[in-house]
Amino acid sequence: LARRDLPADLSGRRVLITAGGTREAVDPVRFIGNRSSGRQGYAFAATALARGARVDLISANVALPDPPGAEITRVESAREMREAALAHSTAADVVIMTAAVADFRPAESAPGKIKKTGEGPAPIELVENPDILAELASRRDDPGRLVVGFAAETDNVLEYGRAKLERKGCDLLVVNQVGDGRAFGTEDNQAVVLGADGSATEIPHGPKEELADRVWDLVAPRLGPAHT
Ligand code: CTP
Ligand code: CA
Repeated sequence: LARRDLPADLSGRRVLITAGGTREAVDPVRFIGNRSSGRQGYAFAATALARGARVDLISANVALPDPPGAEITRVESAREMREAALAHSTAADVVIMTAAVADFRPAESAPGKIKKTGEGPAPIELVENPDILAELASRRDDPGRLVVGFAAETDNVLEYGRAKLERKGCDLLVVNQVGDGRAFGTEDNQAVVLGADGSATEIPHGPKEELADRVWDLVAPRLGPAHT
């Protein structure tokens, strides 16, 4: 992959990246999931490594090769991702939440495989998952730690994005416009990055590595003094 020469502006930094999509168990063989491939999160990991960072990658159900040099923690569900993210967040200078976290999970996972009874399916009761991004953004012991969220919106992209940025309390929100086959499961991405400082930076259509590099360009100057 041909890329421009990258600055080592993340050297000495530790970044935490969540990638992929969570799966919420219905029974031992079934789950509620989503179509996130993990490519955007893995592109963040690869580009951060290339810019000199140490990378903790929390990976949910991704079928991609491990980015060489990243510390990978594999998780399945939103609650597992929350545990892993909280555990790794204290060491991180920046948290990048690309993962598609299931908003809801089955209230209970059946202990054995659900069988047909001949009387039709039983409804699956859902409960809400914890909001990992909002929790990480609210629990910042170190004000120098940056929290970056992602949102996929189909319409009113800027308006919904700005509201989500404020609701979540993150520093930057990368808003993807989706629909018509864009973003999910594709190689390319396009986005606008909204800042808590009121900024809005458009990132043109291009490969996911390119989008990641443009986001690192915004993150690097916002980081506080490097930890030793
Ligand atoms: N996210 C999270 N935990 C959740 C849901 C979402 O950490 N339980 C994170 C995602 O990783 C992403 C950001 O929050 O970085 C925005 O996700 P999104 O689904 O757009 O936001 P929601 O608050 O779930 O709003 P919506 O109702 O639009 O799905
Ligand atoms: Ca959601």
